[in-house]
Amino acid sequence: MAHISASVFTSHVPAIGAALDLGKTQEPYWQPLFQGYEFSKHWLREQKPDVIFLVFNDHATAFSLEMIPTFAIGTAAEYAVADEGWGPRPVPKVMGHPELAAHIAQSVIQDDFDLTIVNKMDVDHGLTVPLSLMCGQPEAWPCPVIPFAVNVVQYPVPSGRRCYQLGKAIRKAVESFDQPLNVQIWGTGGMSHQLQGPRAGLINREWDNRFLDRLIAEPEALSQLPHIDYVREAGSEGIELVMWLIARGALSDKPPKVLHRFYHVPASNTAVGHLILENT
Ligand code: DHB
Ligand code: FE
Repeated sequence: MAHISASVFTSHVPAIGAALDLGKTQEPYWQPLFQGYEFSKHWLREQKPDVIFLVFNDHATAFSLEMIPTFAIGTAAEYAVADEGWGPRPVPKVMGHPELAAHIAQSVIQDDFDLTIVNKMDVDHGLTVPLSLMCGQPEAWPCPVIPFAVNVVQYPVPSGRRCYQLGKAIRKAVESFDQPLNVQIWGTGGMSHQLQGPRAGLINREWDNRFLDRLIAEPEALSQLPHIDYVREAGSEGIELVMWLIARGALSDKPPKVLHRFYHVPASNTAVGHLILENT
């Protein structure tokens, strides 16, 4: 049977992708940030996951106000890298895992979570920047990826509680897949940031670090946190953090092992948080 071995959490700031693509990782502004992912890149190479289930949000790239799925699972064989206004990033295309994705869709929908099935989707910085941070600049990404898009852009967005419960349903789905696959689940986006309005540039280190503490130690209680707290404390785009609860819910109920924790301010307008949790 397949199993979930670990979860990875990371922010997805688009400027990080540009810094990497333009060869700026050793510049003083960027060096400390990329340094924080050195352990993670080695770890991922050793882990050799068979599939990454990557929870992310689309930023009005594949979707728009014309159609707003709350939860969308990618069941395609491959995904093109999106053009977000400056041409597609020079990164490999993303290979999918249609068999496992279809199995997860079947299981999770029968478990009462209504997913949208997506057979064609260009993937934006929400998905490619986490891959770049964890893999560097490879010729091809190390394994197939199942993109799982969550609406955190246009209200109403799903509650933390629903995201956490969905993670548990995803775990059950993976564990009932009839192939011995090592699956990782990644939760991406966040941490505190607000990109517009009078509070643009808002960063809340204390709140972010408390969020990391609680994500590790008391995810169930954290999942009860209402949206207004995210927005008030972590800024309007801080709401991206509800996606981390999906990945956390997919880990086992036993306390996880904290393999790596990193926090850095700023990257562009955002606080960057990063965790690797392993099932024990
Ligand atoms: C920034 C952060 C984001 O999460 C995003 O989607 C776009 C921009 C930023 O900090 O610049
Ligand atoms: Fe974002």
